[in-house]
Amino acid sequence: MATPDSPLPTIDTVAIRWSEDGLAENDGIFLEQNRLKQRFSALHNNHCFVIGETGFGAGLNFLATWKLWAKTAPANAHLHFISVEKNPLTRPQLSRALSLWPSFQPYYLSLLAQYHCIQNPGFHRLSFADGNVHLTLIINDTQIALNQLFASNHPHYCRPQWQGVDAWFLDDFSQTKNPAIKNPTMWSAELLTTMANLTKPQGTLATFTAAASIQQHLRTAGFTVEKVQGVDKKKPLIRATFNPSNNEIQHAPLTAHNYSTKQPLPWPVIAHYQATKKSQRVVVLGAGLAGCHTARALADCGYKVTLIDRANTLAAGASGNAQGVVYAKLSPQRHSLGEFNVFSLRYAQDYYRQFWSQGNRYGQQCGVLQLAYNPKIAKQHQQLAAMFSHTGLLQLTSAQQASELAGLPLSNDGLYFPNSGWLHPPAVCQALVDHPSITVILATAVNAIDRQSSGWQLTGKCKATKPWEMSDIHTLVIANATDARTLPSLQWLPTQAIRGQVTLMPTCPVSRDLKTVICGKGYIAPAVDNQHCIGASFNLHDPCTDIKRRDHITNLHNVAKLLPLFEAEQIDYQELNGRVSFRCATLDYLPMAGPVPDINAFDRDYTQLRQDARTNIHRSGTYLPRLYLNIGHGSRGLCYTPLCAALIASIISGEPPPLPQSIIQALNPARFIIRDLMRNRR
Ligand SMILES: Cc1cc2nc3c(=O)[nH]c(=O)nc-3n(C[C@H](O)[C@H](O)[C@H](O)COP(=O)(O)OP(=O)(O)OC[C@H]3O[C@@H](n4cnc5c(N)ncnc54)[C@H](O)[C@@H]3O)c2cc1C
Ligand SMILES: C[S@@+](CC[C@H](N)C(=O)[O-])C[C@H]1O[C@@H](n2cnc3c(N)ncnc32)[C@H](O)[C@@H]1O
Repeated sequence: MATPDSPLPTIDTVAIRWSEDGLAENDGIFLEQNRLKQRFSALHNNHCFVIGETGFGAGLNFLATWKLWAKTAPANAHLHFISVEKNPLTRPQLSRALSLWPSFQPYYLSLLAQYHCIQNPGFHRLSFADGNVHLTLIINDTQIALNQLFASNHPHYCRPQWQGVDAWFLDDFSQTKNPAIKNPTMWSAELLTTMANLTKPQGTLATFTAAASIQQHLRTAGFTVEKVQGVDKKKPLIRATFNPSNNEIQHAPLTAHNYSTKQPLPWPVIAHYQATKKSQRVVVLGAGLAGCHTARALADCGYKVTLIDRANTLAAGASGNAQGVVYAKLSPQRHSLGEFNVFSLRYAQDYYRQFWSQGNRYGQQCGVLQLAYNPKIAKQHQQLAAMFSHTGLLQLTSAQQASELAGLPLSNDGLYFPNSGWLHPPAVCQALVDHPSITVILATAVNAIDRQSSGWQLTGKCKATKPWEMSDIHTLVIANATDARTLPSLQWLPTQAIRGQVTLMPTCPVSRDLKTVICGKGYIAPAVDNQHCIGASFNLHDPCTDIKRRDHITNLHNVAKLLPLFEAEQIDYQELNGRVSFRCATLDYLPMAGPVPDINAFDRDYTQLRQDARTNIHRSGTYLPRLYLNIGHGSRGLCYTPLCAALIASIISGEPPPLPQSIIQALNPARFIIRDLMRNRR
């Protein structure tokens, strides 16, 4: 990195090398040796170029690449920049470091605007330039991070399930006593083999050293290595090109139990990824939050999308309430649900910033207070604060601090999520589909999906009575919540419909000054047009669509537990309005987002699990061709649907995933079939 004229900031959590001509040097190494200018200019519209970097540091390589991309790539091409960083700079540190580079100003201001809560380990997906430039920042050690980009952690499937990396920048180095000295010995043979397995044929790699050991490891991993002169003509560098025929990874033969992991199977893997061409139309069924986010993510990716719903308006199901809270129940335990909650909350908060920045039209980023209404929750909050408060995601608040934030007296301590808030889901849905590549068909109920040689066929009724069909659908995404299991090939889906009623209540003196969202068992958000939309009752096995006084009472008593001065008994229940809809819940509370398994093939291929749940079955899952699900968002649709939509779009397009492989597996709809086989329940 270059040294600017002004004094350097003190950046002590990370080793950053500052040198006079560092910036030009980095351009000379990474951009030039990977021939990015020529390769960017040669791209076509909607093509995607993937860069992998080790060592994000202050993001200068990313900004330099983005700047070059903006000058040379076609307007509708997509840049994916995946970067790994073990010790991320804090936002103030990054701000101080980057403010010294005026030539990057518009770029770094955009980066800073999204650089929130980055200290959380894991995947962080940031999008820029109207969704044409994506940065996937993975906070972890390089080896661990890159392993998460494979299709499975099974040794037979250490290939990405996406198109792979076009160009690598190797720019991480271990800290020595003198941070100016880079220690290149850290790139082990294992790490370079991992990179090779993530690289496209003829993908390239550049780094700042020409150490013999690195050259040797690269050759072994399948790269053709060239030693070239750096910009200063003094230091030799490595430029390498991946030639897959050189890369014959020898897997050890798989014997029962020689592969030890909690998930003994490679079951979620689709053997060969096959991206849907950008010229193919994608159809999405269901125009709630899940369907609208999916349609938008696909349109942003370059697809033409048709979105179908049986209702006369968008967001007619669970997504139709006047206010919904962007929140997730975080867990101090390390499990897939807890991890997914953190990733999806971070992603949703960033995603919705574009809505929140437009006044109160779509909602308010007013902060969310989760109050500790019993000692068990108070203890969990303490644990969560210890885990996350340094990341900026949340803060532990005393009852007094919470009262100041909320503008009302509160008697419980709690957790405060400063970057969250509430939204008007129907307005969000409308804005999402407001895109030239999205066609919306309403008043059309789909009753059946059939596979034909030319693609999927949908049949149903238009305007309740008129027979309707659509054929030759290349790729289909089912996002119609609990109704998915009414479709013939999806009757096995283990989802549950859970009735919920919101209460629409005029403001009262106690609630009028509310400044943040408050959640406990229920929730209340600042009023809009003098009305609150209070949520939400939770009734299993109750298909009734009528508004019930009983549920208003539940909702208002839950609010009374949060706001001490609120007197639920004083409310005139006759005057209240409400709305009933149904959540689509799964047994493990995680959504189902991924390919649709061929249930007969799963039953046949994994039948041995009925006898021995730990048997290693070396076989990839069989899925119905180009059919995907995005359902099961339970009580968290606002939070979960943006990230699940990004995941589905990445699977369909073959572009890099926004989530680690472990979470992609945890969201895979096939998990329920496998679990049932393991318990011998099928
Ligand atoms: C009372 C209540 C309060 C809630 N509060 C919150 C909250 O504060 N925060 C939060 O994050 N989440 C909340 N949720 C959950 C959230 O609303 C859901 O998770 C989310 O709306 C799910 O979106 P979806 O698109 O999957 O389903 P839906 O919004 O139900 O959309 C499914 C769509 O599919 C259509 N459809 C169904 N079958 C067919 C067919 N055969 N043909 C054509 N179209 C079809 C339906 O018309 C519907 O539009 C709440 C839920 C309820 C019930
Ligand atoms: C030279 S800096 C990267 C500069 C950066 N590419 C830029 O353009 O600003 C090297 C970075 O590698 C990171 N790093 C070192 N070892 C690492 C490891 N094992 N895994 C991930 N990151 C690592 C350091 O924290 C440091 O931020």
